[in-house]
Amino acid sequence: MQDLQGISVEELMKNPEIGKVIGRDSQEMIERRSHVPLVCEVFHQAYTRLISEDIYQFHIDREARKCLPAIIDNVVQKVVGEDAPDQALKAAYGKPRNIGIVFSGGPAPGGHNVIAGIYDAAKKANPENRVYGFLLGPEGIVENDVTEIDDELVNQYRNLGGFTMIKTGRTKIDTPQKMVFSRETCQTLNLSALVVIGGDDSNTNAAFLAQEMFEDNIQVIGVPKTIDGDIQVKDAQGHVLCAMSFGFHTAARAFANSVGNLCTDSSSDVKYWHICKVMGRVASHLALEVALQTHANITLIGEELADYTDNQRIQAADKSEETDYHAYGMTLRHLSRVICDGIVRRAAFGKNYGVIVIPEGILEFINEIQVFIIKLSTIIAEYNQTHDSDFHAAYPVLEDKLEFLRRLARRSEEENGVAVWNRRDDDLFNDIPEFFQEGLLMERDSHGNFQFSQVETDKVVMGLVKDYLDILKEEGEYKVGIEQVIYRKNMAKSGLDPDLYGKAIFRNYSDDTFLMVKKSIISIKTLKQALLQAGLIQDSDDIPAPVEKIYQKSVPKFKTQTHFYGYDGRGNDPTRFDCNYTYNLGLTVFSLIANGSTGQMAGIKNLEKDFAVWEPIGIPIAPLMHLEERKGKLALVIEKSVVDIHSTAFQAVKSSREKWLAAGPAEDDYRRSGPIRFAGKSEEDRPITLVLNAIKTAPDNFAR
Ligand code: FBP
Repeated sequence: MQDLQGISVEELMKNPEIGKVIGRDSQEMIERRSHVPLVCEVFHQAYTRLISEDIYQFHIDREARKCLPAIIDNVVQKVVGEDAPDQALKAAYGKPRNIGIVFSGGPAPGGHNVIAGIYDAAKKANPENRVYGFLLGPEGIVENDVTEIDDELVNQYRNLGGFTMIKTGRTKIDTPQKMVFSRETCQTLNLSALVVIGGDDSNTNAAFLAQEMFEDNIQVIGVPKTIDGDIQVKDAQGHVLCAMSFGFHTAARAFANSVGNLCTDSSSDVKYWHICKVMGRVASHLALEVALQTHANITLIGEELADYTDNQRIQAADKSEETDYHAYGMTLRHLSRVICDGIVRRAAFGKNYGVIVIPEGILEFINEIQVFIIKLSTIIAEYNQTHDSDFHAAYPVLEDKLEFLRRLARRSEEENGVAVWNRRDDDLFNDIPEFFQEGLLMERDSHGNFQFSQVETDKVVMGLVKDYLDILKEEGEYKVGIEQVIYRKNMAKSGLDPDLYGKAIFRNYSDDTFLMVKKSIISIKTLKQALLQAGLIQDSDDIPAPVEKIYQKSVPKFKTQTHFYGYDGRGNDPTRFDCNYTYNLGLTVFSLIANGSTGQMAGIKNLEKDFAVWEPIGIPIAPLMHLEERKGKLALVIEKSVVDIHSTAFQAVKSSREKWLAAGPAEDDYRRSGPIRFAGKSEEDRPITLVLNAIKTAPDNFAR
């Protein structure tokens, strides 16, 4: 380094070496931008054709047939390579096109590569083709806010995470007026195709746009995006067409890296329970994958809780010839007991630390909470419709909202009829903590979805856990086990007889590796009583210091650190898997466009297998739609895929639970998934969930 004396800061900063070191472009970014993703075999040929795959059938919803007549009879299309195209295909490929692309909903790693794939294929087919990006999501279509994508822009974002290039938004094109504006925008830009890169709701929107613009010959193609992993498409016979939306792998690996690091930290300083809330609005796919990647001690899976039946309660109810509705599905209280059980059992082996993974959407699967969510969503939607104004603007603070609900409950009593909100609902609602009331009353998103990421789910669950642990501590059930070797060493140092004292203070004084202080000893006073009773000390004596030290060691302090893994993983740069997946999705989109499809979603079959056998396809969107309650009304939407509790992936987690809880003398079973790498063998990495679910198991391997 030069002598800095006499050099101004301005001059110093002009030094190119300094500029290079602190500039925007890290080595990782440079390498990522220049990386060329793998390309499926079919795209090595100059042209592609589509082959209709009639073996895949769907159960078609009557309402979908009525609302989407132009695209309801679409079928699955397989993309095949073509080196010797006929004139018609050549002309279709070479036809000049304007293509508009929009990101819709939350970011998911790999989105930029979808754009890159479309851009590269479009420019290769005809350099005159123009690709536009709508800014800030579907709002950009409604408002005609657009930017043209060129080499410079696309190259800046290749293989990089986020949706930074054109941004995203959650506007839904859901009114006739917005539809008219969107159509006008597409006509003004002379678009031949619009590509919607989004989740279930956005692909639903894509289907309606395809129907609306069918007459205008504007094709609409969807792309399955969401870190939540809840767009998984199977046909009626269960053939997997889209095993996973893009972005899932990266987000799960990013979360797993952080959760794995916490496993390492907590088993090093052995004093904290780390509570990790993991994104995934409803489905627990991300939590499941994190469990498989890290072997965290406890992972909750929402779908399993909904399926739970309390056999003891059922039997008791049967005896009294009654039905106990609380026996079906797990209650919050019961869930907290299950978590406490794991904590207490680990503590018995000296492990008063660990890692718990809680999916952000878990409350959706807890009956009592689900009822509140549905009732409140209906009330808010009804209010907005009847008053043509916004409930949250009319009642901005919690107290006003609660007063509104109180009035509804009073009215239901006066009218003596069936009401959405009655006195019982109101009383139960007033029993829950204020922060949770606020969460449940929060504004729904533009699609009418409850915004789980805004609710402190972990706080709700862990609040109950803490309360119950206090009770278990009082009852002498929750104690930290003392390693026999340490106990003996401690006593030997002070010349005290370990056996005499051991029998008086421990409930399992034997050859056990870990010793548990008797349940009745829950304070210094009760400890002294135990020693007095055993004749080891007199009333006037103090408790021997080593004995008191051992007792203090057995008293558990339940210390927690909470973490939320969501937005960080969503913004991560994509894994190799997601880079390849998304680039090929982009190429598939262009094949669908060039071959005249509309109302199709691009997909890649065989994602769980080697890249060599990946198969680009077009999946018909309209046949995937069904009626669901949204904003208090039935609406046609694509069904979300939640975790299948009979799947191999779930069963693998379930049967590993005891091992991962590690409530025994053995070491914890933590797995280090490590950070997302862009080199080495990382391209063979794919979601463990996918790989497991593709393993063909004998039907009775897992009990149904
Ligand atoms: P998409 O379904 O739009 O991909 O978004 C998924 C998600 O990341 C959820 O996991 C999360 O609950 C939600 O978005 C958060 O929404 P917001 O970005 O509006 O806070």
